[in-house]
Amino acid sequence: MRILVTGGAGYIGSHTVLLLLQEGHQVSVIDNFSNSSPESLRRVASLAGRSLDAYHIDLLDAESLAQAVGEIKPEAVIHFAGLKAVGESVAQPLKYYKNNVVGTLNLLEAMNKAECRTIVFSSSATVYGESTDLPLHENTLRNATNPYGRTKLHIEEMLEELAASDSRWHIANLRYFNPVGAHESGLIGEDPQGIPNNLMPFVAQVAIGKRAEVQVFGGDYLTADGTGVRDYIHVLDLATGHLAALDYLSNSQGVHVWNLGTGAGSSVLEVIDAFARISGRPVPYRITERRPGDVAESYAHPEKARLDLGWKAERGLEQMVADMWNWQSNNPDGFPEANHQLVNAKSLQDFIRGSSPTITE
Ligand code: WQD
Repeated sequence: MRILVTGGAGYIGSHTVLLLLQEGHQVSVIDNFSNSSPESLRRVASLAGRSLDAYHIDLLDAESLAQAVGEIKPEAVIHFAGLKAVGESVAQPLKYYKNNVVGTLNLLEAMNKAECRTIVFSSSATVYGESTDLPLHENTLRNATNPYGRTKLHIEEMLEELAASDSRWHIANLRYFNPVGAHESGLIGEDPQGIPNNLMPFVAQVAIGKRAEVQVFGGDYLTADGTGVRDYIHVLDLATGHLAALDYLSNSQGVHVWNLGTGAGSSVLEVIDAFARISGRPVPYRITERRPGDVAESYAHPEKARLDLGWKAERGLEQMVADMWNWQSNNPDGFPEANHQLVNAKSLQDFIRGSSPTITE
């Protein structure tokens, strides 16, 4: 199939693009490279032994977006592009509503115009908010408690209303739990800009010696060891979940929602312990105050995806940590700094195809 992947140069996007290429799909990527690097696409193309088309476009540039979607003529879209830092969303809510909600609106209008009405949307377990109804089912009440989570919730609602208004739409909302890990090659992985907000990349940077210690946000939660419990899921399991959802949509109209989680919870201290053991490096930590907005526990009821999609997560915490450590130790500074002035589309293509070592202005 001809698949358009927005945000395909990002962490989850690049791993999904790799699997799509390996399955024989024709892939085009639209990315503004604000939180990703063309280098990840170059490495994905080389790992897959197949090329892909990349467009340096921001979803807020509705005209260029509509033109590219009209050119690509996708049969389906996997939509990752969006801002995802909870803390930043609290400080800059309008930036999040504009990028995530207006960006998605522009994409849906461009798709409609190009007669493409199949979309897999990157949603998040954050839409459940501070629910104590664990494990979290797909019909657990949605109650987002921060602007980032609310943008995901509003987009889910926008998609539900679109499907109700026009039965030609095939829509999947995938609610991710905590994506971690990396492809076993160690060539692609999570490359957070600046200080990592999330636990696993922060622990990895302490293990590699880039950061002094992990701050454990709260040791007095009502959990086994007092620290926060989350459902960490390997990014490759997440990627296969997208392919399974795409398959399902090929003959299912309307809107469908699935949790993508393992159903198992791990505490902060368990993650730190696993990292120290597997990396062989000390991971010093200090228990500090709780982080505002955090819940004590969050983990998925993963049955619906297993029953509907025949999908379940295969990799456990040990492999997530081993693959994360392999990526981090091979790429202590992540991807080479992206050349953000990607003016010349041809040079981006040449770079990704490996026929040019750099991207010219
Ligand atoms: C995990 C646990 C923290 C950092 C968020 C978003 C979610 C998704 C994943 C985008 C918690 C603790 C963390 C640290 C710590 N993002 N922690 N020290 O908050 O569960 O989920 O990221 O899709 O939508 O909500 O992930 O990795 O930030 O935190 O102790 O330096 O680690 O308190 O218990 P979270 P996280």
